[in-house]
Amino acid sequence: MWQVISICLVPILVVAISHLFYSWANPKCKNGKLPPGSMGLPFIGETLRFFSSHSFYDIPPFMSKRIARHGHLFRTSLIGQRVVVSTDPEINYKVLQQEDESLVMWYTDCFLGIVGSEEDLMAIHGSDHKYLKNLILHFLGPENVRVKLLPKVDEATRKHLHSWASNGSVDVKHGAAYIIFESFGKNLFSYDKDEITKTLVESFKDFMDGFVSFPLYIPGTAFYACIQGRKKAVKLIKDMYQARKASKNRNHGDFVDRLLEEVEKENTIVDESLAINLVFVLLFAAYEAGSQALTLLTKFVFENPNVLQELMKEHDTIVRKRDKELHGGVTLEEYKHMTFTHKVINETCRLSNIQPMIFRKVVKDIEINGYKIPKGWIFLAFTSVVHLDPEKHENPLVFNPWRWEGKELHSGSKTFMAFGSGVRLCLGAEFAKVQMAIYLHYLVTKYRCSVMKGGEVIRKPTISYPNGLQISIEENISKE
Ligand code: HEM
Repeated sequence: MWQVISICLVPILVVAISHLFYSWANPKCKNGKLPPGSMGLPFIGETLRFFSSHSFYDIPPFMSKRIARHGHLFRTSLIGQRVVVSTDPEINYKVLQQEDESLVMWYTDCFLGIVGSEEDLMAIHGSDHKYLKNLILHFLGPENVRVKLLPKVDEATRKHLHSWASNGSVDVKHGAAYIIFESFGKNLFSYDKDEITKTLVESFKDFMDGFVSFPLYIPGTAFYACIQGRKKAVKLIKDMYQARKASKNRNHGDFVDRLLEEVEKENTIVDESLAINLVFVLLFAAYEAGSQALTLLTKFVFENPNVLQELMKEHDTIVRKRDKELHGGVTLEEYKHMTFTHKVINETCRLSNIQPMIFRKVVKDIEINGYKIPKGWIFLAFTSVVHLDPEKHENPLVFNPWRWEGKELHSGSKTFMAFGSGVRLCLGAEFAKVQMAIYLHYLVTKYRCSVMKGGEVIRKPTISYPNGLQISIEENISKE
């Protein structure tokens, strides 16, 4: 009897599994043709290969193999999603200008679950997104950053570089996080206790360390530490928000003043939980991208003595022209004249690809270059491949700030999208640039530094430093 059942079942199973494999590998597409590509194994897709670690500098092997086989637009499957990947600058540009009834911003449910809520900046679209974006731009728009935040960034940077030099050395990624929280966090919600910066740095570090880890929520795992880190940071933000709300003082001149006013308005989309989440999301974006940017900037500058020389020339000239009696920090005029510095910043962003890719969800069938991308699929603009393409940037793996000579330095282009493009262009771009420029200014004019240890970088695709980046740093007394 069992023999008969198994004889009947085996062919049924074989047919069912073959059907599963066939339909997975050949997804349906009504009235059109999907881009070429392979969907990998059912459910897992090509996720494991996609996330395998690889050299920091080059195009990921996953990408180069598929580009060679299928061209600059291909299909695959990642983290349980059907995905179309584009490394074509024209297509990326066109798609990122849209956020409408066809395409919207997308992050994995897991990412949203860890970072925020279903109703925060990253999860909302259309007019609600526009509303929140305008609210944030009051604080992070170029005008406010250059006029109001620049002096505070200057003060915080000087304070921390001085403390690095007092210790004689520093792990740059860790030290940079302190600078970011002091420059950015204190402007977001004013606080005067250094203890708060320390708690925020530690909470966000735990949060980021377990961010791309196996989601096993038991004490001792990186994922557990990640969630605990998030909880600790949110609790601190919540407590401060509540204390500020109770105090009725709205004269701190920070972003929380603005949020408290906003929440009290009648026709607003911002409630208390959204306000608190917004502070968390902004701190998260500033912490991770900002501290990576300062670390990679340090690495590239000290690995390239000719770049360091040119930077010293530019910044020494600024210092010489300055009225020493009046000097209270870098001025807006000085910042605007840091031409070579801005080339170094762009080159750091191009080569390091801090955010190497951008996701969108297709919410209505779209057509690209004669191919159809059905509703429900994910569009992945792999902008870092364009940044490292020898046809777009000569000798792309060489750190060469001079390549930006005669090129537009302050807005992106189809071949340079380090800060994204279109509707979701990075809201912290100007802050990040001001922070990098001021950091470089003091580093090259007031200190003598050299790399002591580490500096190797791996990408999976998040950026990590297996041996950190430890530099020795001392005051340059000859320049006092
Ligand atoms: C060098 C450093 C940075 C890089 C390379 C970077 C890169 C990016 C990119 C590529 C996007 C677009 C994401 C998308 O289209 O899906 C983005 C968005 C964003 N960035 Fe940055 N970022 C940096 C620094 C910062 C900083 C310091 C902050 C906060 C102060 C920040 C806040 C944001 C926010 C809030 C968004 C979302 C914009 C929106 O959804 O409308 N970024 N960033």
